[in-house]
Amino acid sequence: MTGDTVSQDLHPVRRRVLRRYAALPPAVRWHVAARLSLCSVEPVLPRLPREGLLVDLGCGHGQFCHWIACRLPKLSVLGLDPCARRIRAARRTQRPKVRFEEGGPARLTGLRPQVILAMDILYLCPKERWPELFLSCRRAVGPSGLLLLKETVSRAPWLFPLIKLQESVMTRVFGISSGIPYQHLPPARVRELLGAAGWRARTSDLPGPGPYTQRWHVAEPA
Ligand SMILES: C[S@@+](CC[C@H](N)C(=O)[O-])C[C@H]1O[C@@H](n2cnc3c(N)ncnc32)[C@H](O)[C@@H]1O
Repeated sequence: MTGDTVSQDLHPVRRRVLRRYAALPPAVRWHVAARLSLCSVEPVLPRLPREGLLVDLGCGHGQFCHWIACRLPKLSVLGLDPCARRIRAARRTQRPKVRFEEGGPARLTGLRPQVILAMDILYLCPKERWPELFLSCRRAVGPSGLLLLKETVSRAPWLFPLIKLQESVMTRVFGISSGIPYQHLPPARVRELLGAAGWRARTSDLPGPGPYTQRWHVAEPA
């Protein structure tokens, strides 16, 4: 996996995604645009099936659900997030192949997605609950399912206190995120926990933006 999978002009995709949010409040539009600038699902796009169901767990306002739907129009995408406010906003952008529901990992029961995508949710979920989260995902997907977990990690140790502070402000003051900031484990430990839940995972660190690394754990049933 490389961060350099983008050989074509993706600006039209970005514009199409942003258009879906045109009627939403400026704060939501700003947040969606910022997330699209800060990270990308393009590196894992070649791993996604062309049809079936993808669940974006912790989808936030759902911009990556729309991105994936633009790129893979036959795939059905369900965005789940425990934050009612975000899901209310996301639902205003729904279209036939992109739906949103309030819910966390427990909502996976009874679904049979080919792929579960979870971008930047781990740091908000208490570490003690990661095994349960990984197990819920493992039970939900079929024998050839996939779990794509992304974390944003800092290459500069001195940035950690700053990130913690930023997350505390976002979470506690603005209520922009929900959960407990800022949970983090070394990648080998994450793979170990994934292994204990029945996954076999590989980790790829992709550069950027700035002093950040986009860390993808790609997990398949063991
Ligand atoms: C940083 S945002 C990322 C949103 C989106 N995935 C993205 O990349 O833009 C983290 C999201 O995780 C959600 N979240 C927090 N705890 C969660 C949990 N235990 N399970 C699923 N989602 C969770 C929050 O409500 C929030 O919308």
